[in-house]
Parts: sequence; structure tokens; C-alpha cells
Amino acid sequence: MRVALLGCGVVGSEVARLLTRDASELARRVGAPLELAGIAVRRPGRERDLDLPAELFTTDAHALVAREDIDLVIEVIGGIEPARELIVTALENGASVVTANKALLAEDGGELFAAAAKAERDLAFEAAVAGAIPIVRPLVESLAGDTVHRVLGIVNGTTNFILDAMTTHGSGFEEVLEEAQRLGYAEADPTADIEGFDAASKAAILASLAFHSRVTIGDVHREGIVEVTAADVRSAAEMGCVVKLLAICERIDGPDGAAVSARVHPAMIPLDHPLASVRGAFNAVFVESESAGQLMFYGPGAGGAPTASAVLGDVVSVARNRLKGVWGPGESTHAQLEVLEIGRA
Ligand code: HSE
Repeated sequence: MRVALLGCGVVGSEVARLLTRDASELARRVGAPLELAGIAVRRPGRERDLDLPAELFTTDAHALVAREDIDLVIEVIGGIEPARELIVTALENGASVVTANKALLAEDGGELFAAAAKAERDLAFEAAVAGAIPIVRPLVESLAGDTVHRVLGIVNGTTNFILDAMTTHGSGFEEVLEEAQRLGYAEADPTADIEGFDAASKAAILASLAFHSRVTIGDVHREGIVEVTAADVRSAAEMGCVVKLLAICERIDGPDGAAVSARVHPAMIPLDHPLASVRGAFNAVFVESESAGQLMFYGPGAGGAPTASAVLGDVVSVARNRLKGVWGPGESTHAQLEVLEIGRA
């Protein structure tokens, strides 16, 4: 099985390292070897950090996905273009795709899932929401027979890291943001984190999956943490609370049918609430559903290794499907579901 890797930053380099280091174990788990056939980088030089042949690296991502021998494309470039065009081309060329691209899915998920359905190929995206935490698969598969009422979560590691340091150490915003960038938690443009765009993308994806709807980032009310001050954090502490950036997705059943509300904003959480204890760059997602009741998913939400774990889980799953000549079920089911009216709160 020949694999093309698009992007070799914090996540991509970890994916390349693990694909190479664990090649024989992954081959055993998949049932066929996974051969890293090419790595597209924006700028040459990344190859020096990885013990891989220089000829694997290319700056021509379009030529890499156009190759007919590629079975599986891993997209960890991020952003809308050229990621969207590369994914669509890969699917049209018959490759299966694994992506961590929350911004793209939250904006153009409909087009991408339609392209995957038309090509009858997998488009897997566990790494797009909450880093290492398995949350996409539980929503798409494990809870497929239940009715989800609410999804509530801390889904951005960078802002949680910043708010946690402001609360615990009284640190300044800028200083902690630089630390989050150094640790590989923040997006290439950290505005996406601190202004809530990253969490809003994840809220759109979670709401789409949980409520079998099609929610885009434009449907999500968004406030980031740029206006949260040290004084706000101190006042919250005096009231027995911590400030967290929350994504809140709700199904609202009314006399005229169901609607969905999705929003992201800073919130005061009482110290005895389980979400108050989510520290550093960790994430947590609560799911409340009719039959299962309350479920909590918790773990590392950002960083190279945790995100690579989710990417590689999808790679194994998609590669196994490919060997069996099947695809889905998540995306095919999702593509056929009814779109609910989007409400705002
Ligand atoms: N910048 C993101 C975060 C990375 O801080 O959560 C994971 O999506």
C-alpha cells in the first residue's frame, strides 16, 4: 500500500517518523506493508530532520497526488487551499484520504464527502477534532443508534493551555502563547486558536456528526479568548470558578421539528465540574444522549505525537478497508442524512 504524505510540520514529521519506525508492526496490523512513497513539503530542508531518503521529498504536492500508484493520501498541510484541491484530486484518482484538516472540513465538508462518496473511497478525519481523543468514530459509529442531545467540550489545546497558565501561575497572555507555539500546540497562525476559529471548526464538525446534520463554521457563533484578562481570571477564581473556552453544540427539539445550535465562547466553570480539571493542552468532550446518558472523552488535544496517533489510527483503518475493497461507513451515512435547520443561541 503506497502512502503519500502532504505536509511535514509538527504533525506530518511525527507521522513520517512513526510510519517508518513501526513499519513492520503496522504491516502486520493492516495485513499489507505501508510504503511511504512521497512527502510533499512547502520548503525543502525538512528532510534533514528525518532519517529518510532525500528523494522521497518534493515541493510538488500536485504531482504527488496525481501519481497513479498512490493508494492512500495523508493530508496534514492544514488550511483551505491547496488542501481542498489536493484531497479532491486524490479521491478522483482513486486514493483513500486521511486528513487532520478541521478548517477545511468545517468549511467544505459537504463537497469533500460528496467527492469521497462519488469515488467510493474513505475520507477519514479522526485527527481533526480533539487531537488524540477518539471522538469522531464514537459519534459516527458507536452512538449511531442513539439520539445525542448535547456535546460540550474543551476542544482547543492552545487556549486551554493559556487560560490554565493564567489561572495557575498568573502568567501573561503573550508569554504563554509563545510557549504554546514552541510546544507545537498552536496553529501556524495562532489567531485561529485565540480568536476561537479552530474551536468553531471543531464545533461545526462535532455538531454535524452528533446531529446528523451539515453544520459549517459560518453557522457557529464564535468568541475567542483575546478579551479575557488576568482580572477576569482572578474574579472567576474568587467566585470558585475557572475560565474555559467551551464549544457547545445542542439539538433543540421544538414543535416545528429539530434545530441545531453551535457556539464557542469563554465560560465560567465551577471548580467542582469535571471540565474545570482539564489542564494544559488537554481536551475533554462531554456527550449527552438519550439512551447512553452522559459520556466523557478526555485526553491530549494538540501536539505532534497525539495528533499523529489519531492520523495513524485512521491510516490503519482505511488501509484495512482498502484491502477488503470496502469504504465508510461513517462518511457514506453522513452524506445521506437530513440537514436540520441551524439555530443560534
Ligand atoms: N491548535 C490546535 C489546538 C491543534 O491548540 O488545539 C489541535 O487541533
